[in-house]
Amino acid sequence: MDERIITNEILKEDGFEYSIRPDRIDEYIGQTEIKENLKVFIKAAKLREEPLDHVLLYGPPGLGKTTLSHIIANELNSNIKTSSGPAIEKSGDLAAVLSTLEPGDVLFIDEIHRIPRHIEEILYSAMEDFTLDIIIGSDSSSRNIKIDLPPFTLVGATTRAGDLTGPLRDRFGIISKLKYYTVEELTQIVKRTGRVLNCSIDDDVAVELATRSRGTPRIANRLFKRVRDFAMVMGNGIIDIEITKISLDKLKVDKLGLDDTDYNLLKSIIDKFNGGPVGIEAIASSIGEEQTTIEDVYEPYLLQKGLLKRTSRGRIVTKKAYDHLEIPCPEKIE
Ligand SMILES: Nc1ncnc2c1ncn2[C@@H]1O[C@H](COP(=O)(O)OP(=O)(O)O)[C@@H](O)[C@H]1O
Ligand SMILES: [Mg+2]
Repeated sequence: MDERIITNEILKEDGFEYSIRPDRIDEYIGQTEIKENLKVFIKAAKLREEPLDHVLLYGPPGLGKTTLSHIIANELNSNIKTSSGPAIEKSGDLAAVLSTLEPGDVLFIDEIHRIPRHIEEILYSAMEDFTLDIIIGSDSSSRNIKIDLPPFTLVGATTRAGDLTGPLRDRFGIISKLKYYTVEELTQIVKRTGRVLNCSIDDDVAVELATRSRGTPRIANRLFKRVRDFAMVMGNGIIDIEITKISLDKLKVDKLGLDDTDYNLLKSIIDKFNGGPVGIEAIASSIGEEQTTIEDVYEPYLLQKGLLKRTSRGRIVTKKAYDHLEIPCPEKIE
């Protein structure tokens, strides 16, 4: 797959993400409900001198799950240890991570849905009773050992909450779904990024960047950097609205933040499947993208923007999508 500008996967150059990450809850823009609730739960946990309940954060990539997990640790005055689902291949891997925990630590497990099922069970007793319950050795010499763990808070992040097993989900006391950001919130985010990068931008530029970032801070920050490049090389270094618009057009990000793949997806449903309903597998093979990428990255935004609808018989393209693509809309479609 090409490296696309509006991908919300982390690219190598996003090392700069760490420098622009807010580290206190009050600097974290948007997600108001989640923030307000977390503030209460964190405060209560501190008053009781108990660890915060385990937290599950889910939602599309780039919306601030990793950032929020670090903020939770900071607000608890705790240390954070991090791991990820794909890094945990054997029960020993998870045991190793758990055994490094100190009282009150936050353990962040990214992509938690990718922990293999049989290993997941180790998490149950770790989360519930703070014990590490594992089998060591094999066959006749194997035995069960139990090790006490210090009280800790697990923060899990996932793009696919539906892939978690029921028992694992049930062990999270706090489950929060991150939402796409509004243009106003993204405007504040890019302005903040400008201040952190020592490259302030005018309101109209910030709004333009925010509008084209598909509700996603990671994309907003990335577009900001690219526009700054265009301004330096093609202009006089000043990021004004004109150079911003030119750059964003060159980057092929449209007014709704849609890119080539979004266009392909919508167009292929219209051209090849009569506007739908059509199944996700058929869409995936017709545009040559992974089904999971479509489900995690593209579809949620198109659904949220009302360009695509999900029905029991499959996906259908809406009138709004026909209008946006400037394709005449068949009469029966709303
Ligand atoms: N609420 C927010 N306020 C400000 N910046 C944010 C916010 N959420 C995310 N960001 C920025 O977006 C980038 C991506 O966020 P990240 O936490 O890595 O997303 P995720 O883990 O959900 O993929 C971070 O570098 C951070 O600077
Ligand atoms: Mg992340």
